Amino acid sequence: MKTVSIIGVGRVGGALALALDEKCRIENLIVRNPGNASAIAGHLINKPSITTIFEAGKITSEIILICTQDSQIGRVSAELAGNLKHKPFVFHMSGALSSEALNDLRNIGCPTGSIHPLVSISDPFLGFSKFKDAYFCVEGEASAVSEAEKIVKHLRGKSFSVETRNKTLYHAAAVTACGHLVAIIDTALEMLGKCGLEEPEARRILLPLIKSTIENLETQTTVKALTGPFARADLETFEKHLEKLKESVDPTVVGLYLELGERSLQLAEKQGANREKLDALRQKISLAKKNLK
Ligand SMILES: NC(=O)c1ccc[n+]([C@@H]2O[C@H](COP(=O)([O-])OP(=O)(O)OC[C@H]3O[C@@H](n4cnc5c(N)ncnc54)[C@H](OP(=O)(O)O)[C@@H]3O)[C@@H](O)[C@H]2O)c1
Repeated sequence: MKTVSIIGVGRVGGALALALDEKCRIENLIVRNPGNASAIAGHLINKPSITTIFEAGKITSEIILICTQDSQIGRVSAELAGNLKHKPFVFHMSGALSSEALNDLRNIGCPTGSIHPLVSISDPFLGFSKFKDAYFCVEGEASAVSEAEKIVKHLRGKSFSVETRNKTLYHAAAVTACGHLVAIIDTALEMLGKCGLEEPEARRILLPLIKSTIENLETQTTVKALTGPFARADLETFEKHLEKLKESVDPTVVGLYLELGERSLQLAEKQGANREKLDALRQKISLAKKNLK
């Protein structure tokens, strides 16, 4: 059973302590504010010590998980590097940062990596069961990646890897599919608001449509899953939409509609839509974008 110390016992750090408890021995919870960690420690089989980063010289665990906010990872890494007496595996949990954020530790010989859970953890006690079946992006030095894969197995999750240089791009992709999806739906709700629908009703109406689209993506490629006027390269409908959008919503929202329309046409082309219709619609979109400036 590997020994583990967790630095930063917030949402993810707390959830990891709870989820790893039966597979690893959680030795230390290292916090800024000891009060936050005692509820977590109370639920662990072997009671860990609760300490502060400044006592890090006392850490002897084989694995250290840095679960602070992204902005603190570099500082904690430097501080830890000045305090360690051994060379543990060290991981952080950020999606946006790569293992390079731990270079101070790497420079003293610690195998370093990152483990990013593709789940939303809003509370440690609600969140620890969410690791099961979740995907985790693991990245870093080869030995760290293979250790990270074992940790993910303990969490009953599924791991995949990207090269260190692609870590931030991977995270941008995740944000595009998750946060930006919400932002797109928000613009649709704004449009329905202009049609006189209250937000809760508008959301209720759109959800089955959104869910059916997501369900299609479970078995179909994006090319196959695209439906609607852009899939048909339907110029007439596009022109009606454009006219109404321009008088109803902010130009930035019109711009978003046009940008996504262009992307949809790439998919429509792969579906085999009519070439002439596609070209005509592309020209109209391009003109509309110029007129927005
Ligand atoms: N939450 C998610 O859904 C999620 C999902 C995937 C990845 N992540 C990643 O997981 C990491 C943690 O996120 P989180 O949501 O768990 O953040 P969080 O709830 O804010 O927890 C961070 C914890 O770290 C503590 N901390 C900060 N600096 C410290 C230091 N120098 N020494 C000891 N403890 C320190 C904070 O203490 P204070 O309370 O004093 O600030 C806080 O308890 C981030 O890298 C994030 O990107 C989060």
